[in-house]
Amino acid sequence: MPDGKPPDLDRHHRYPEEEREAVYRVMAERRDVRQGFLAEPVPDEVLRRVLEAAHQAPSVGFSQPWDFIVITDRERRERIAALARGHRDEFAADLPGARARAFDRLKIESILDTPVNIAVTCDRTRGGRHTLGRHVQPQTAAFSSVLAVANLWLAARAEGLGVGWVSFFGERELAAELGLPAHLEVIAYLCLGYVTDFAPEPELAMAGWARRRPLSWAVHAGEFGRRGLPGEESVDPLADVIDAIRLLGLPDAAAMAAASERQDRMIKPRGSLGVLEEVSVRLAGLAGSCPPPLPEPACVAIFAADHGVHAQGVTPWPQEVTGQMVANFLAGGAVVNAFAAQVGAEVTVVDVGVTASLEPVPGLLPRKIAPGSADFTAGPAMTREQAVAALTVGLEIARDLVAAGNRCLITGDMGIANTTASAALVCAFTGADPAEATGRGTGIDAATFARKVDAVCRGLALHRPVASDPVGVLAAVGGFEHAALAGFILGAAALRVPVILDGVIAGAAALAAAALAPDVTAACFAGHRSVEPGHAIALSHLGLSPLVDLGLRLGEGTGALLALPLLASAARALRDVATFDSAGVTEKP
Ligand SMILES: Cc1cc2nc3c(=O)[nH]c(=O)nc-3n(C[C@H](O)[C@H](O)[C@H](O)COP(=O)(O)O)c2cc1C
Repeated sequence: MPDGKPPDLDRHHRYPEEEREAVYRVMAERRDVRQGFLAEPVPDEVLRRVLEAAHQAPSVGFSQPWDFIVITDRERRERIAALARGHRDEFAADLPGARARAFDRLKIESILDTPVNIAVTCDRTRGGRHTLGRHVQPQTAAFSSVLAVANLWLAARAEGLGVGWVSFFGERELAAELGLPAHLEVIAYLCLGYVTDFAPEPELAMAGWARRRPLSWAVHAGEFGRRGLPGEESVDPLADVIDAIRLLGLPDAAAMAAASERQDRMIKPRGSLGVLEEVSVRLAGLAGSCPPPLPEPACVAIFAADHGVHAQGVTPWPQEVTGQMVANFLAGGAVVNAFAAQVGAEVTVVDVGVTASLEPVPGLLPRKIAPGSADFTAGPAMTREQAVAALTVGLEIARDLVAAGNRCLITGDMGIANTTASAALVCAFTGADPAEATGRGTGIDAATFARKVDAVCRGLALHRPVASDPVGVLAAVGGFEHAALAGFILGAAALRVPVILDGVIAGAAALAAAALAPDVTAACFAGHRSVEPGHAIALSHLGLSPLVDLGLRLGEGTGALLALPLLASAARALRDVATFDSAGVTEKP
């Protein structure tokens, strides 16, 4: 507004205010409805109106690839409901602990509770081969049918009709049940009926299954990664998260005081839960509430990358093992998978810099910054830009996993030679002596150990990294997984979600995170103490005490996973245990 006057938008063809409001309102209030349906039939003229709205949808080359199968027959719907039940059970059997319990409480379809179902199909061949636009992008035919669904859904909301979309079907299996010709594909199966209520928020959000991502995470100015809403300054996600942590003022002293006070009133001798009392108080301080939410569901993110310093003979393991272990994590055959299954956590693998090219498979997040870092004894391990990019990957993964409903994040890592880079980071951030901070990693002989210490010494001498420039330290001697883990830890803290740290790699990453935002330690729980000497140095610098000490030195996230039940028990005790006053039990004088 250069002259300070608001622009006169009414000279354009916009709708009058009330009508505009109705349009925005129907979008905000459209809900996927699965419960509270009434048996009342839907009048034919109402159905005709919503189908007419669906039929107004845009379509590629104006191909109008949709058809609508309106189903009321009870027996057919019973068969369709049985198909959905089968897939529901299959999905449920695959879910980790807390997710499975939450899923059990969710209703995923209302096929029999609604008076009418509509299957929306797509004919990818309609209109012949010269359909404008579809010739390069065949998937646009299906997109067009989805737009018809969107129109139907909005019109239905305006009519007061609830709609629930069910996708728990094998597409061909449903097409066969509907007797569709082979050239038609089912795009959506919708259940329609009048309802007692429209929920104010998505049912999945209200059930805590997932959260809405803020719009500012989704809008980019000009290029992907330059986030910012129109008219607002573009935000740098890393600076944003560091600011957010500072502004939170973690930990919340009042919530911690309330938790300590409750611990003292709980039916048990004061202090008898030992370290778990502190854990519960710290969880309350992080959440800013007492009791804090239970740290579940939980997800371990295994950040994987390769290291140029491998060339210095710091480990007997060949570099290919990083990629091979990633495949093993994804196939479910590693120790981390066994421990995650035992404690009910999900496993996600993030390729931030593995040398090998990895095939896309479910559970793998491809976020490669570069195929391995450079040898830090010869030059910087990465550029500053790459370090920031890896930090940003980590914090965005933390955000996405929290938006997906996780209430506890767990660090995992994989990268042959990453204990060497970890030792260098620990020395740079704490001033420790390389001979003391360097460990034997996967079990190495004296000569390899000497080369490892020497590589760390040479790296530090070459770059002279200073702790006050954490990005510079990561770029000089870190690994992509260290930088991404530091971002992951920051991302969790900014959302007040606890993050359980695994061994020395996570410890080194947490030092970088704490150097960027000192309050981040309020979100960090040291899962265990690894036998790597640098780990104890990192933990003591961070002021964190390990929850278990079992002589582990595997990495992957294994030690952190073992601590998850301890965090969950601490939070649950604070929430569920009765107090002397509430239970009428006499306190010790
Ligand atoms: C393509 C698609 C498939 C969906 N499939 C299912 C489903 O099988 N079961 C279910 O309960 N909800 C399903 N949903 C509904 C989503 O869970 C719902 O749209 C989301 O939670 C957001 O809530 P809202 O629609 O109320 O805003 C589906 C939604 C879409 C767009």
